[in-house]
Amino acid sequence: MHHPDTLPTTFTNEESEALSARSTEYSLGLNGSGPVNRFHHAKGRNLVWTQAGLRDFFRYADPGIRDATGNRLDIHLVRANEAPEHGTGWHRHKLGFHAIYMVSGWARFMYEGKQTFVETGDFVNMPPGITHYLFDYSKDMCFLEIAMAGTVDGMIPEEDVEPYCETPAPTLWTDS
Ligand SMILES: [Fe+2]
Repeated sequence: MHHPDTLPTTFTNEESEALSARSTEYSLGLNGSGPVNRFHHAKGRNLVWTQAGLRDFFRYADPGIRDATGNRLDIHLVRANEAPEHGTGWHRHKLGFHAIYMVSGWARFMYEGKQTFVETGDFVNMPPGITHYLFDYSKDMCFLEIAMAGTVDGMIPEEDVEPYCETPAPTLWTDS
């Protein structure tokens, strides 16, 4: 038995449509405004970790924001699943906006020629098109990724690019 307060808030289809119409009118013309935005409350405990993402050595949890915004905005969690071997490789993304927030652990990135240590609590805004490489991360790494859709299906597009510079070796995971 769940206490009512622990259940996600939902609206009926009718209420949802009214909210959506009001939202469209209220936010008319702003980026991301439009009739597809609907109310959505995802409970953290119900998040499901899957392989539905760019990397097979990470796991992804999709709270449904992409669906609730008609593929305009993709907000999801990414966590480490296997020790870093070759990392993401050098790449860039064609998007309107791209940022991450480190929920736990740490990750080491190359942002073009700059080695960057991103630890718990850090935010990073990545100008779309910046050449980068996530080459190292801790076992407990988990970050929130926020991306404005670059494709109609709302997924994050990726383009491999030539190595920008040498990349340091990843750290070995130990059980201690
Ligand atoms: Fe990336």
